[in-house]
Amino acid sequence: MSVTMKASQATVYNDKVVRQFAIMTVVYGVVGMLVGVIIAAQLTWPELNLGIEYLSYGRLRPLHTNAVIFAFGGCGLFATSYYVVQRTCQTRLISDKLAAFTFWGWNLVIVAAVVTLPLGITTSKEYAELEWPIDLLIAVVWVAYAIVFFGTIGIRKVRHIYVGNWFYGAFILAVALLHIVNSAALPVSLTKSYSAYAGVQDAMVQWWYGHNAVGFFLTAGFLGMMYYFIPKQAGRPVYSYRLSIVHFWALIFTYMWAGPHHLHYTALPDWTQSVGMVFSLILLAPSWGGMINGIMTLSGAWHKLRDDPILRFLIVSLSFYGMSTFEGPMMSIKTVNALSHYTDWTVGHVHSGALGWVGLITMGSMYYLIPRLFGQKQMHSMKAVEIHFWVATIGIVLYIAAMWIAGVMQGLMWRSVNPDGTLTYTFVESVKATFPFYVIRLLGGLLYLGGMVLMLWNVLMTAFKGQASDARIPAVVPAHA
Ligand code: HEM
Ligand code: HEM
Repeated sequence: MSVTMKASQATVYNDKVVRQFAIMTVVYGVVGMLVGVIIAAQLTWPELNLGIEYLSYGRLRPLHTNAVIFAFGGCGLFATSYYVVQRTCQTRLISDKLAAFTFWGWNLVIVAAVVTLPLGITTSKEYAELEWPIDLLIAVVWVAYAIVFFGTIGIRKVRHIYVGNWFYGAFILAVALLHIVNSAALPVSLTKSYSAYAGVQDAMVQWWYGHNAVGFFLTAGFLGMMYYFIPKQAGRPVYSYRLSIVHFWALIFTYMWAGPHHLHYTALPDWTQSVGMVFSLILLAPSWGGMINGIMTLSGAWHKLRDDPILRFLIVSLSFYGMSTFEGPMMSIKTVNALSHYTDWTVGHVHSGALGWVGLITMGSMYYLIPRLFGQKQMHSMKAVEIHFWVATIGIVLYIAAMWIAGVMQGLMWRSVNPDGTLTYTFVESVKATFPFYVIRLLGGLLYLGGMVLMLWNVLMTAFKGQASDARIPAVVPAHA
C-alpha cells in the first residue's frame, strides 16, 4: 500500500498544500478587509469602538495590517510559489511534511496575531508588532519554507530556473533577513520585549525593514505571480525575458537603500535621508520596466482583455502597480514629503499599491488556480468574477481618490499661516473637513470587501462542485515550462 502510494505520489504534484493555502488566502482576505472596513468606519464615527478596549482603533489597526499583509498576502504567496516552483521545475515539492508544517505553522502565527493584537500585546514596531515568541515561530516556519522552496529548485528536472522563481526566491531570502534583524529584542516576560536597538538606530532598522517589507513582501513575491500567471492566462510568452532579468537585479539592488524616505525631517542624518530619496527616485525605472514587461506580454492578444475578466484582474493590477511606483518616488522627494507625510495621502498611496496591485494580482491568480486545483474547467460563476472585477475597481478608485484629496487638503491646511504667523486652521478643523472623504473611503472599502465576499462564495461553490485533484507531472520535459 505505502509503496503504491509512494509511486503514485512521485507522478503528481503536491497540490494539497497549494489548495489549503489558496482557500485560506480568500478566507483571510474577507477577514482582513472586514477589519479594514471596521477601522475605516471608526475613523469616521469614533464611537464605533463601543467603549470596548479590544475593539479600539489602536488595537484593530495592526490587526488589519497583519491580516491583509501576512495572512491574505502571505497565504497567496505560499500557494502560488508552491504551485509555480513545481510546474517550472517539473517536480514534486521536496518534502510534503515540511510543506504541511509551513501551512499549519503559518496559520498558528495568524491565530496568535488575532489573539494578541486585540489584547494590546505589541512591540509597537509597524508591520512587526508581534511579540518575541511569535517572532521565533515565524523564523522557524520561514526557514522551513526556504528549505521546501530552494530544495525543490535543487531537485528540478529542467536546467533553467524560471524568472518567477528568482522573484519568489529573493522574497523568501530577503524576508528572512529583514525579520531576523529587525526583530532582535530583549525579552523581559512572555509578552513583552525591548528592541535591541535604541533611538534613531532603532528607527532606521525599523524602516529598512518596513520599506523592504513593501519591496519584498508586497512586491517581489507578487512579481513572481505576475511572471507566471500573466503569460499562462494570456497564452503568450513573457514579452522580454532579457528585460525580466534586468528588472530582477535592478529592483532587488535598489529597494534595499530606499528605507530612509520614511524618516524625512527626523533625527536621522540628513545625508541618509538624501540617499533614501535618490534611491527611491531610481526605483521608478526597474518598477516601470517590470510593469511594461507584464503589460506588453499581452501584445498581439489585447482583445483577450475584452472577454476574460481574470486577465483583466491581472493586467489592471499592473496599472495600479505603475501608479503607486510613480507616486512613491514623487512622495520620497523631501519637499513633496513635507506636504504628504502624516496625511491621508500616504494612506491613499498605500492602498493604491495594496488594493490595486497586491489585491488584484492575488485575486486574478486565485481565479486561475482554484478551478485547476478542484478539477474544474472554470470558476463556478464567471459572471461573478466579472462583477467582482468591476466592484473592486470602483471601490479602489473611490478609496484612493478620497484619500488623495483629503491628504493634500490636510497638508495645505496644516501649513497655512496668517500674516501674523499664527496657524490659519486648528487641527480639529482639518479633522472636520476630512469627514466626507472618510465616508467615501468607507464606501470604497465596502465595495472592495463586497467583491471579496462574492469571491469566497464563488470559490466555495467551485470547490464543492469539483473534487480535490493533484495534477500529473508531465513525463516529457518541454523546452519552456
Ligand atoms: C476593504 C479593504 C480595506 C479597507 C477598507 C482598508 C482600510 C484601512 C484603514 C482605515 C487604515 C488605517 C488608515 C489610517 O491609519 O489612517 C488602513 C491601513 C492600512 N492598510 Fe488597509 N484597508 C483595506 C484593505 C487593505 C489591503 C488589501 C491591504 C494590503 C494588502 C491593506 C494594507 C494596509 C496598510 C499597509 C495600512 C497601514 C498604512 C499606513 O501606515 O500608512 N489594506 N487600511
Ligand atoms: C517605487 C516604489 C515606491 C516608492 C519609492 C515608495 C515610496 C513611499 C514613500 C515616500 C512613502 C511615504 C513615507 C512617509 O512619508 O512616511 C511610502 C509609504 C508607503 N508605501 Fe510606498 N513606495 C513605493 C511603492 C509602494 C508599493 C508598490 C506599495 C504597496 C504594495 C507601497 C506601500 C507603502 C506603505 C505600506 C507605506 C506606508 C508606510 C507607513 O508609514 O506605515 N509602496 N512609500
